[in-house]
Amino acid sequence: MNAPVAHAACTPLSSSEDVYGPYREALIAEKLLIPLGVRGLYARGGDFEKVVEHFDRVATEAGNVFQPEVMRFPPVFARKHYTRLSHIRNFPDLMGSVDSFMGADKEHRALLAKLDGEQRWEDDLVPSEVMLVPAGCYPLYPTAENTTMAPGGRRVDTEGFIFRHEPSDDPARMQLFRQREFVRLGTPQEALDHRDYWLAKGLQIFGLLGLPVEKVVANDPFFGRGGKVQKAMQIEQVLKWEIVVPICSTEKPTAISSCNYHLDTFGASFGIKTADGEVAHTACVGFGLERIALALFKHHGLRYRAWPQQVRDVLELG
Ligand SMILES: Nc1ncnc2c1ncn2[C@@H]1O[C@H](COP(=O)(O)OP(=O)(O)OP(=O)(O)O)[C@@H](O)[C@H]1O
Ligand SMILES: [Mg+2]
Repeated sequence: MNAPVAHAACTPLSSSEDVYGPYREALIAEKLLIPLGVRGLYARGGDFEKVVEHFDRVATEAGNVFQPEVMRFPPVFARKHYTRLSHIRNFPDLMGSVDSFMGADKEHRALLAKLDGEQRWEDDLVPSEVMLVPAGCYPLYPTAENTTMAPGGRRVDTEGFIFRHEPSDDPARMQLFRQREFVRLGTPQEALDHRDYWLAKGLQIFGLLGLPVEKVVANDPFFGRGGKVQKAMQIEQVLKWEIVVPICSTEKPTAISSCNYHLDTFGASFGIKTADGEVAHTACVGFGLERIALALFKHHGLRYRAWPQQVRDVLELG
């Protein structure tokens, strides 16, 4: 039998002064997350990772009906590709750049003197050729640059670590996390059908997993004053749906998935064409793997072996 701690840490789902602390501390006490010294950065414990892996398999099975191409991306991609996406214009506060030391012995000695003198040594670094990946499908589009797709377009199954500079006490707002994405490139109708299919499929899967999810029209956190207009347009055109569920707060449920229609933004940036020569439209569903695990641990308890049988069956957790 499992100890009652599994559920004690999961109730109530309500807001209080410190909405994030109790759940974060419970996750750490159960060694599901191991803090790494910076807000929003964790190692994953064995049971946490097991749940992520098993959900990932459920996603694979759901995606297999379409026989997508599979691509797994490293957590960095080319800076020259990053700057051709609109991320630097729309979300500059979230980006992550990789710097390195490129000097010789003399400069190295100067850097170490600063380090030992507790001065800013980081100013001696220079930007490398790579940036951290800020969204699951971003590294895909440059690989399709200046191509004309076969009739029916493309379906791609991607996964990778995503960096967003949004340090937080919320255990569900990490700086590095995984997105499992199914991406569609094709006509406007193909992209929209994909987005709508996965919205319904996602709701169905989470329902089977016993999560009280809802779908909501959402917007991305466009930066600055100009961003207000972009947020309003995104909402008005219903380009982004989120599947949300209470994790640390019922008042502010957390997005565990999003289903996005990008219009021809990426097709135009990278010269991707449909078979009849039109600029490709794209859409993606992004499953936030850590947030899904955190929602499951929140709603069913911190020990997965005590979860309801149906949930364990769907995840094939035995
Ligand atoms: N900081 C984060 N930590 C963990 N998972 C995240 C984080 N940001 C996004 N995700 C996950 O990735 C999915 C797809 O990313 P998307 O860009 O749509 O999220 P988002 O709109 O930025 O989410 P939020 O509104 O909570 O910031 C989200 O639905 C979520 O599950
Ligand atoms: Mg966000």
